[in-house]
Formats: sequence, structure tokens, C-alpha cells
Amino acid sequence: MDAIVLVGGQGLRLRPLTLTRHKSLMPVLGQPAIEHLFDWLDRAGFARAILAVGRFNDDLADAYAGGRPGRLRVEVVRETERLESGGAVRYAVAAADVEGRFAVLNGDVFVDFDFQAMLAQHISRDADLSIALSEVADPWAYGVAVVDPANRILDFVEKPPEGTEPSNLINAGVWIFEAGLTAEIPAGAVRVEETLFPTLVAQGRTVLGYPYRGVWADIGTPARYLELHQALLTRDQLPWWGPKAFVDPAASIEASVLGDGVQVGSGARVANSVLWEEVAIGEHALVQSSILANGVTIGVGATMQDAVIGAGATIAPGVQLPPGSLIDPHTIVGARG
Ligand code: GTP
Repeated sequence: MDAIVLVGGQGLRLRPLTLTRHKSLMPVLGQPAIEHLFDWLDRAGFARAILAVGRFNDDLADAYAGGRPGRLRVEVVRETERLESGGAVRYAVAAADVEGRFAVLNGDVFVDFDFQAMLAQHISRDADLSIALSEVADPWAYGVAVVDPANRILDFVEKPPEGTEPSNLINAGVWIFEAGLTAEIPAGAVRVEETLFPTLVAQGRTVLGYPYRGVWADIGTPARYLELHQALLTRDQLPWWGPKAFVDPAASIEASVLGDGVQVGSGARVANSVLWEEVAIGEHALVQSSILANGVTIGVGATMQDAVIGAGATIAPGVQLPPGSLIDPHTIVGARG
């Protein structure tokens, strides 16, 4: 079975990180996010993953132009205009000769559940469409499904106001399509979540949810990217440090991920943060709930909270960044800002 992986977005909400690296190549526990998805597809028994990339995704397209080692075949199809999920599925099915039933995945999700069980439910109930549903604590931020006790989806509610949500089951970005559905996607750049899916439900077709508990994340915003790492660190009960990370014995690291080649100086404190490769943290610096891209340098005694710092930026010694600072790649933030 084939999986179409949608990765054609621009990742605007993750700027400045995505100014230098595609969202799906951002590290999750030291591996590009998409590699986790490919490993999961491989474990789930897929034969081929079709990476549906857009116009602005050169680094991702280049990374997989020659495929990927291993059992799962990875092929790239390239779009020339913004197609949204519906147009992208239609285009990928035609461009990669997808035949029969197939899966579609949002390329910015982290999932870990038993896909074969979802497929078994889909087949045994003769479904037209199945949607993996993740149970979350904050459903009002997502598309929420109304599901009957037999997992049939009765309705969708997009971002319900807090307290009015019909369930805490959200569209997890993993779908199973029967082959004929491609022809039912309306023409143009449309989102299937807002067109095909509600239409099928309104027609009384068999649209099934597959609720699951377990790690799920959409890494589309800095907050969610950090939350995913917190969840993985809790799940694994282990700190995650890249092979060549060096932490001074007099530094403190709490619930954080340190990429390869990271250096943390004496007296520094790094908490609830993700540091990509080759980040250097000066002595007595304080980094809290922040994401630092590759090659960032933090000067002695600098402090930050909820910061997102682009690749190669430098924060000078003693700088106190305002909470929530977004720093562009290769910027130098001096002692007086
Ligand atoms: P933002 O700019 O931050 O909204 O990011 P995004 O566009 O990457 O994310 P969004 O949540 O809008 O899209 C969900 C998934 O669909 C992401 O994995 C996108 O890469 C993907 N996607 C969105 N539009 C397209 C498209 O036109 N073509 C393809 N192939 N994928 C798309």
C-alpha cells in the first residue's frame, strides 16, 4: 500500500526556524521529523511513501531525490503551485501512479499507533474513508470529530470554543482513502478536511474514526514542537543528548534535548528547551522553554524564555531577551539589543 505524505507547506508559523530548514527536516530527538514518520510507515508495512513537496521545499526534495536506504521506497513528486491537501492528493495519485486504496499523512505530525489495526477496522467495515483520531487535552485548537460508539464519524467541528467541544478526539492527520475517492475531491486548491470529508459524512457514507491514545503531535508551531519533546522525554524517561554534546559538570540541564556538538558552559541552566546541532551556551546563561537552531551562540550570562532563535544567530553576553523573542538566522543581538 502507498502513503502520500503532504509536505508542501511553507511552515510560516515556525519561522524563523523554517527560514533555513524545512519543517519536516527539523530534528526530533536528533533525527529529521520526517524520518520518524518514514520509520513508522515502514513498521506499519507500507511499501512506498510518496513525498508530495511544493515549490518552496528544495531542501526536502533534494534530501530524498535519490530515495532513502531501507525497505520503504521513498519517491518525491513536485508541485508547481499551492494545491492544499485536496489538490495535492489528486496530483500525487496521478503523478506517482497510485493504484487502489492508499493512505495520506500530514507531513508535520508525529504519530505512534498500530496502523494495521486501523486498516483492519477500515476493511472489515467496508469504509470509504478512515481518519485516525488522537485524544488530546486541548481539542479546541484543532478539528474535532463527533463519533458514535461504533467509531462512525457523524460530524466535524473546526476549532470549537473551549468548553463546547463535542469530544476530545481530533483529526490526527493520518487518513485511509478508498481508490475512488480521488475523483470526488473538488477541483482546485481545496482542503479535503473542509470539502470531501464533510461531504462524505453528509451523504451518509462510511467515514470511520480510529481513536487512539499515545504520542501524537503536530509540530506546526514552536509551542507544539516543544510539547512533543516534553512528551517524548517523559515517555522515554531519559535525557536525549547528541553524541558529541558536551555539558560542563557545573551546568544544569532539565527536560531538554541537546543536539550533536552542543556545548554548555559552567553554571548555565537549560530547561524545557530543544537545542539543535552545534549550539554553544556560555557560562551562567539561562535558556528556558526555547528552541535554538543549529549554530546558535549564547553569550555568558545571557537569558531567554520562550525564545525561538534562528540558525547561526548570536546573543551577546549579558543580553536579557524579552520573553517570546523571535530572532532571525545569522542575526547578532548585542548587549543593548
Ligand atoms: P503554516 O504555513 O505554518 O500554516 O504551515 P503549513 O502550510 O506547512 O501547514 P498546514 O497545517 O497548513 O498544512 C498541513 C500539512 O499539509 C503540512 O504538512 C503541509 O506541508 C501540507 N500542505 C499544505 N499545503 C500543501 C500543498 O499545497 N501541497 C502539499 N503537498 N502539501 C501541503
